[in-house]
Parts: sequence; structure tokens; C-alpha cells
Amino acid sequence: MPATGIGRPRLVERYRRFLPISDATPSLSLGEGFTSLVRLGRLGRQLGLPNLYVKLEGQNPTGSFKDRGMVVAVSKAIEDGARAIICASTGNTSASAAAYGAAAGLEVVVLLPKGQIALGKLLQALVAGARVIAVDGNFDLALRIVRELADRRDHPITLVNSINPYRLEGQKTGAFEVCDDLGRAPDILAIPVGNAGNISAYWAGFRDYQGARITSSLPRMFGFQAAGAAPLVLGHPVERPETIATAIRIGNPASWHKAIAARDESGGLIEAVTDDEILAAYRDLARLEGVFCEPSSAASLAGIRKLALAGRIEPEATIVCVLTGNGLKDPHTAERNVGPILEGGSTTAAVVAALGWS
Ligand code: F0G
Repeated sequence: MPATGIGRPRLVERYRRFLPISDATPSLSLGEGFTSLVRLGRLGRQLGLPNLYVKLEGQNPTGSFKDRGMVVAVSKAIEDGARAIICASTGNTSASAAAYGAAAGLEVVVLLPKGQIALGKLLQALVAGARVIAVDGNFDLALRIVRELADRRDHPITLVNSINPYRLEGQKTGAFEVCDDLGRAPDILAIPVGNAGNISAYWAGFRDYQGARITSSLPRMFGFQAAGAAPLVLGHPVERPETIATAIRIGNPASWHKAIAARDESGGLIEAVTDDEILAAYRDLARLEGVFCEPSSAASLAGIRKLALAGRIEPEATIVCVLTGNGLKDPHTAERNVGPILEGGSTTAAVVAALGWS
């Protein structure tokens, strides 16, 4: 019997009518979803955007939005009799697959681009007992290899990257929660884009809700890629993607066409933000709002800030930035962006001196 949360509603039960869940689907949960929507008071004032919100996906069990899709993908894998799951990852998918796979008693194999994974994410996969394989290349190569392995017949293994349709089904729940919390659909949904699954899933979720007449409007989808890894902005794959935002360091997104459709059908945009813009948003979220997200997540706010400063956003718009992962996952980037620890000696006087009070 796999892990199930008690004492609070389950995400897949709450949105069951929109998900591929039946009575035959095993009930698996680590308590995913139900993440907070928080208004950015100080940054909103600074940007002249009084209705600016962030959705804190770092509150999920493994610290990222991936758990919404993974809980569905792994439940369906067990239902289908799978014994093993596999994924390529920039870190968060592997952390999530490792955790849900462990809870379900499955063998978990993850392929990661060597030396390009934030420390916390790597440890999450290892601690959960996944077999972690580093490949000499980037995420795009790792995904290509994983697809080939999943096609082999000698070792049946279920692919749980977002090309597994159950992943995107589960990730739609982020859009449902945004609408439920706001009591309406936002005007703009801003989201970082890497492999392009999440922007596609959110768009599908908003359309499901409008189709069911729970909401009466649709948001414009604003996707943001890192400038050194912006294939959707350039219109062609990027062979050597480069960015400090390692989670979205992807040159050839699997859900390319879905993301472009989400952009165009919603009247939205997909643009690039520089690493400096990402880091500025990352620092300001922590210092002005108390929200510690990972660098990739801050791409959503960095993009909104850039558009607002260029006068490209109407001030009254209700805007939700999805902050996809928890800042604790990437201690090295955090370390490089903070001031020194002050030396406090061993006396009150020394602490007073360190504070500059004397
Ligand atoms: N933000 C974070 C923190 C991510 O980990 C990812 C993707 C994204 C944004 C982009 O989402 O790929 O659906 O467009 N991480 C994947 C991984 C690729 O392997 O963990 P996307």
C-alpha cells in the first residue's frame, strides 16, 4: 500500500473530474498541491502593479511543482503494473520521481547532465535511493537517451518526463488552484519555460475550467526563458544552452509546439530574461517579500518586471507569477548572492561592535 496523506484533502481527489483517475488507480500521496497564492505588496507597489501575486510551488513535498504531475504519472504507472520508472532531468523532475518512486516501491533511474544540477536536487534523488547516472552532455542529450531506454523491450521501464501525458494532466491542477483562490482566472499567468511542459499544462487547465464554466475568461500566458537558453524565443533549438538558472537550461524543449500554441491561443508571449534580471528578481523576492525561490523560478517575476518597466502591462491587471521551486534546492547560487556573516567574538561588546552600534 503506497503512502497516502491523512487529515487533509488529496489533490487528485479535489480535481478528480479533470484527471485520468478511476477507482482502479492506486491512491498515492505525499501531500502535494494546495500551495499558497501570495500578493506581492512591496514589489507590486514598486512596479505599479497592485494585483501582483506569486504561487509558491516550492511548498510541494519535494519542493517543486513537479509533484503535481508526478503523483498522477506514478499512480498510473502502478495501475499499469510498472516496476520501474525513468527520467532525464535538470534536477526537480528527478527529485520528484525519486520520492514518489520510493513511496510506491518502484525502481527509479534518473539521468542528469553532469555537473549542472543544483546540489539540493541531486541529494534528494540520491537520498531517496534512485540510481543516478550523470551523462556527458546537457539535458537534451539525457532526454534523448532516456527515450531510447524506455522504448527497449528487455527492461520495461515507464518514462515519467513530461512527454508522459499523465504528467501534464496532473500539472493542470496548478491552474485550477490559481482560479479557485482568486475566484476567477488571472489576466496574466507568468511562468518560467524550460522543457515547456508546465506552460502547456497551465494553459490546458485554464481551458478546462473555462470549458466547465467555472471561470468565464482565460489569462494571457507569458512564458519566460533564460536568454542563454531561449529556443522558443529564437525560433530554433539552442545547441549549447547556458544560464545560471540550471533548471531551465534546455535547448530543445519537448513540448515546443504545445507551448507555442498556448502563447498564440492566449494572445500571450514568450520572451527572454538575462541571468542578471533573473538574479535581481531572485534577490528582491527574498529581501522585499520573504519568498525564497530557486533562480529559475524568479524568471517569471523578472519577465513581469521587465515588461512593467517598459510600460507593456496594464496596471490593473491581475497577474500570477508561478514560482516553480524552493530556493533551498540551490545553496550555491544563494551563497554567491549574500553578504558576509559578521564576526561576533564571544562578548556582547564584540557583537555590538560587529553591528556597528558602538
Ligand atoms: N522551474 C523549475 C524550478 C524547473 O525545475 C523547471 C523544469 C521549470 C521551471 C520549467 O518547466 O520544463 O515544464 O517548462 N525542470 C525540469 C526538470 C526540466 O528536469 O526538473 P518546464
